[in-house]
Amino acid sequence: MTSAAAGRSEAGSVPERRIVVMLGAPGAGKGTQAKRLSERLGLAHVSTGQLFREAVSDKSALGDQIRPYLASGSLVPDDVTIGVLIERIGRPDARAGAILDGFPRTPAQARSLDKILAAQGDAVTAALYVEVSPDELLLRLTGRRICTLDDQHVYHNVSRPPEKVGICDVDGAELIQREDDKAETVRSRLELQLPPMYEVIDYYAEAGVLSAVRGDQPVEAVTEDLLRALASVSRAS
Ligand code: AP5
Repeated sequence: MTSAAAGRSEAGSVPERRIVVMLGAPGAGKGTQAKRLSERLGLAHVSTGQLFREAVSDKSALGDQIRPYLASGSLVPDDVTIGVLIERIGRPDARAGAILDGFPRTPAQARSLDKILAAQGDAVTAALYVEVSPDELLLRLTGRRICTLDDQHVYHNVSRPPEKVGICDVDGAELIQREDDKAETVRSRLELQLPPMYEVIDYYAEAGVLSAVRGDQPVEAVTEDLLRALASVSRAS
C-alpha cells in the first residue's frame, strides 16, 4: 500500500487542506483546467512548469541550472523540483489547498509529496488524469501561443484564437510560441515524460484516489467532468 492510501485509512477523517494532483501528458490541458478549477474551488494554482519558466526568464541561479532540461524536453531532477514545490506550497495562498499542475511526474516525486503532506497531517485529496490521444497532443502543443507578460494567458491558433492575431485579449501584450513547443522538442517531451507519468498514474490508482477524465472535449465539458470526478474520488468533497 502506498503512503497516500495509508494516509487515507489511518487518518480516518477528512483532511481539511485539499491537495488535488492534475496528471496528463504535455498539452493535455492540465494548465487550462487547473486554472479553472483553482478559480472554482478557491485553491492555489501551483504549476512547477510555470515556476521553472519564471526562473529561466529571471536568469536566477535556479534558472541557469534548469534551462538545459526545459530546452531539451527532459524532466528537471527530482531534488530540484521537490525543493521548488515545497517552497511554493508553503506560501500563504496555498494554506487552504492547491491544484498541483504538473507535479508529481515521477514516483519519487509522488512519494516525497506524500511525506511532505503527512508531516503536516495532510494527504493528497485526489489525482485527476486528463486523457488525450497523442495526435491531439501534438496539435495542441504546436498550435499553442502564450502571452509575453503572463504565461497563464494561453491561446491556441485553432481552438482558442485571440480576438486580434498575435495579441493577448487580456493585456494587449504580444503572443509567442513557448520555446519547448517547437515540433522537435515536443516529440522529446512526449517520449521522455510519458513513461514516468504512467508510473505516477499507477501509484495513485493503487492509493485509490485516481480518476480519469476524457480531455478531448470542449474545455468547459472537461471542467465539469473533473469537478464530478473530484466529488466522487476525493477525501475532502
Ligand atoms: P509544464 O509547463 O508543466 O509543461 P507540460 O506538462 O509539458 O504541460 P503543458 O504546459 O505543455 O500542457 P498542459 O497540459 O498544461 O496544456 P495546456 O492547458 O497549456 O512543464 C514544462 C517543463 O518544465 C517540462 O517539460 C519539464 O522540463 C519541467 N517540469 C515541469 N514540472 C516538472 C516536474 N514535476 N518534474 C520535472 N520537470 C518538470 O493546453 C495546451 C494547448 O491546448 C493550449 O493551446 C490550450 O489552449 C489548448 N487546449 C487545452 N484544452 C483544450 C481542449 N479541451 N480542447 C482544445 N484545445 C485545448
